[in-house]
Amino acid sequence: MNYQWYPGHMSKARRMMEENIRLVDLIIELVDARIPLSSRNPDIDELGKNKSRIVLLNKSDLADPVCNKRWAAYFEEKGISVLEVNSKSGSGVKSIQGLVREACREKLERDRRRGIVNRPIRAMVVGIPNVGKSTFINAFAGKACTRTGNKPGVTKGKQWIRLNKSLELLDTPGILWPKFEDQEVGKKLAYIGSINDDIIILDELACDLLAEIRERYPGALTNRYGLEEEQEALPGAELLGAIAQSRKCYGKGQEPDLGKAASILVDDFRSGRLGRMTLE
Ligand code: G4P
Repeated sequence: MNYQWYPGHMSKARRMMEENIRLVDLIIELVDARIPLSSRNPDIDELGKNKSRIVLLNKSDLADPVCNKRWAAYFEEKGISVLEVNSKSGSGVKSIQGLVREACREKLERDRRRGIVNRPIRAMVVGIPNVGKSTFINAFAGKACTRTGNKPGVTKGKQWIRLNKSLELLDTPGILWPKFEDQEVGKKLAYIGSINDDIIILDELACDLLAEIRERYPGALTNRYGLEEEQEALPGAELLGAIAQSRKCYGKGQEPDLGKAASILVDDFRSGRLGRMTLE
């Protein structure tokens, strides 16, 4: 299966990013806590050099809490301010204000030395599609404030959301392109639903996901689907068949419906029903 996708949008997205980044002091970079590296953009370090940066481990409610802590430590070691958030519930979002000040300390100092006071920090939210940018902006800024579209080039004039007297947010998030040239990365993005499902062969993806889950979270599949312990070790297609049987998904001639089982599995993973899991 080939996970390449949407290269046509890339140069447009890049132009937009370059244009918008010039306007801000701070980049709020959202990554998916379940795949914090694969859901990052390879060029953001270059695009955002000389800017303050915060990384938010979004969808932390779906990721393994132990891994969330480890990933937070990883980014901190790199000198990047980091926070676990759940933009859907708003959990963790309030703590960002403090983090913004910490991340922009040098800029605030510089402004103060130059006699500039009360100039708000300008920030923008960036991330790959589906990482939760719009949800985050709504949680952070309040629902009434945002008018976002998920296509590069949607907003012509820049709109700023004034969060308080010291912080303004660009109302349109920066859409970054994923590292789709790396097939392993592409696969992980497909697991979490960041790649259009239309171009995915779901049965194949599900078999790969099964292997990933049983290696990282032994017993999770057995628990969720009421399998026998030894069934978890079956080859991918057979294991998918066992899940189909356990969920009573049958096609013509009472054959286990693997497509249906694949869809159930992927859906259970994406929604967290298999448990909180981190895949890297
Ligand atoms: P984007 O702008 O970066 O493209 O992402 P968007 O906000 O549209 O969010 C993509 C999906 O991720 C949405 O789900 C949203 O609810 C979900 N989401 C965002 N942040 C979080 C989070 O921290 N935790 C969890 N569990 N989910 C999150 P959807 O299924 O497309 O929409 P909906 O059914 O939730 O409304």
